[in-house]
Amino acid sequence: MTLDTTYLRGSMAAILSVLQHSSCPENIIFHFVTAASSSAAAPLNRTLSTSFPYLKFQIYPFRDGAVAGLISTSIRSALDCPLNYARNYMPDLLPSCLRKVVYLDSDLVLVDDIAKLAATPLGDDPNTVLAAPEYCNANFSAYFTPSFWSNPSLSLTFAGRKPCYFNTGVMVIDLQRWRAGDYTAKIQDWMELQKRMRIYELGSLPPFLLVFAGNIAPVDHRWNQHGLGGDNFRGLCRDLHPGPVSLLHWSGKGKPWARLDANRPCPLDALWAPYDLLQTPYALEA
Ligand SMILES: *[C@@H]1O[C@H](CO)[C@@H](O)[C@H](O)[C@H]1NC(C)=O
Ligand SMILES: *[C@@H]1O[C@H](CO)[C@@H](O)[C@H](O)[C@H]1NC(C)=O
Repeated sequence: MTLDTTYLRGSMAAILSVLQHSSCPENIIFHFVTAASSSAAAPLNRTLSTSFPYLKFQIYPFRDGAVAGLISTSIRSALDCPLNYARNYMPDLLPSCLRKVVYLDSDLVLVDDIAKLAATPLGDDPNTVLAAPEYCNANFSAYFTPSFWSNPSLSLTFAGRKPCYFNTGVMVIDLQRWRAGDYTAKIQDWMELQKRMRIYELGSLPPFLLVFAGNIAPVDHRWNQHGLGGDNFRGLCRDLHPGPVSLLHWSGKGKPWARLDANRPCPLDALWAPYDLLQTPYALEA
């Protein structure tokens, strides 16, 4: 997970939910990535150690200046924060002895054992680097601009693939395969192109779709009941998708802590509230 002061309340709830639903919490190791430019690493470290005295974790600095120049503005300013792009660099940031991780956003809670998600098989194809739930009913074309689709040298990137939307907030990542195929460079190439011609409108998601869509290992939809934060503009209340639930994800503009604090919660925000360790507006000690 990434870690910063803005989303700390979400991260703490996510951590608590992972631990509470794990049959073997002592086997879980958390890897947090935090912006190297911020001075928050030490206080975040203290907050985590104090709140979870037995938590096994490491904090890694992300040189966010490097990616800042590659970010083009999207439709929601929160998506343009450099730390949001740290997921592109996980295989380089984490120790090379780590072979596989589960990446999680900070605006979600698990209600099932994360070991089941972590055990997702990625198959024998070395080009399969990610596992995530796919949504083939979503309109994939809408994630890219008409200038992308009308340029055959670009749109041909999907030739021979059956690309479907997937949400990058919950992913099982094979770090070894990622490093071997240098997927970070592939993602960066698309971000550089986006600086020159607008090929998409969202933040860190479209480059992931460009590089991986149509070639990811399946995960049951129960592991990412996403969109509970509403859309990118208004953050309206949303209902769960049909089917079982192992993970609730408040992706979109509305965050449960903000709506609870404003006394305007959505019905499903009540499922997040039991994991809220920082009910009162929280200030880090200097
Ligand atoms: C976090 O604190 C522990 C001691 O409590 C220390 O060993 C570790 O290096 C610290 N990590 C960071 C990233 O500050
Ligand atoms: C999918 O999105 C594209 C681009 O926004 C749009 O032109 C097209 O009509 C949409 N297709 C469907 C089936 O909604």
